[in-house]
Amino acid sequence: MSDFNLPTELVSALRLARHVVALTGAGISAESGLPTFRDAMTGLWAQYRPEELATPEAFQRNPKLVWEWYAWRRQLVEAAAPNPAHHALAALERLVPRLTLITQNVDSLHQLAGSSAVIELHGNIRRTRCFANGHPAETWDESKAVPPRCTICGSPLRPGVVWFGERLPEEALNNAIEASATCDFFFSIGTSGMVEPAASLPQVALKFGATVIFINLDVEDKTTPPLFRLNGKAGTLLPALVAAAWPDDGEVEG
Ligand code: APR
Repeated sequence: MSDFNLPTELVSALRLARHVVALTGAGISAESGLPTFRDAMTGLWAQYRPEELATPEAFQRNPKLVWEWYAWRRQLVEAAAPNPAHHALAALERLVPRLTLITQNVDSLHQLAGSSAVIELHGNIRRTRCFANGHPAETWDESKAVPPRCTICGSPLRPGVVWFGERLPEEALNNAIEASATCDFFFSIGTSGMVEPAASLPQVALKFGATVIFINLDVEDKTTPPLFRLNGKAGTLLPALVAAAWPDDGEVEG
């Protein structure tokens, strides 16, 4: 863990933080074997653009195609396990006075790693509801229709995620903005920052005086306090950073 050249200002800002916010995206789950959103458009699905699969209009146009794409992704999620980055955030929750975890991911890997009270901005792929009325469905029968139908109203079932063009859950979004405006340390981890409103949260944190760090494969290393960018894998950098800030805490090492 000591191999990393982590900026000392960064390590001490984390150590002294009273309220840490972590915003995560698909990149944090990449090392669990889940393709990031853009990487997912490969292989069988390469011919489609995300907007053709992840919008209400796409579902209305071709519900079978959209259902099958999510069935494939659900299978991947069910086979995946949290990686060291998820575990480092779960450990961090026990080390700082307050941690707010905001995710754009729909895979439950933070919860499986032991993080509590995760704010899910984009829903959860393990939940299913009907398209017309949002009736939740726990089980379904695909032998008669794909997508299967709601047993209450007959509307087709859809994944419990937020599609492009849909509103984010209001309470989750408000809590995310409030936490970003009041934290003193903000992590952005494994997100390309291309999708609003999550993309603006680091700017909110910066504006209100927090130290902000981006951990991503697409960034150049840069130390310009209070803004830091670290290029590398979340599963390596996050445990290293937490271990550097709490060197006596064995929980996050190795
Ligand atoms: N460690 C850190 N970062 C990584 C890793 C890794 N091991 N692997 C990939 N990344 C980075 C990539 O460099 C990229 O910048 O994670 C980012 C993933 O970007 P996207 O695929 O765009 O995922 P995300 O930002 O979560 O997408 C936001 O868009 O498609 C919608 O609703 C969907 O929640 C998703 C949202």
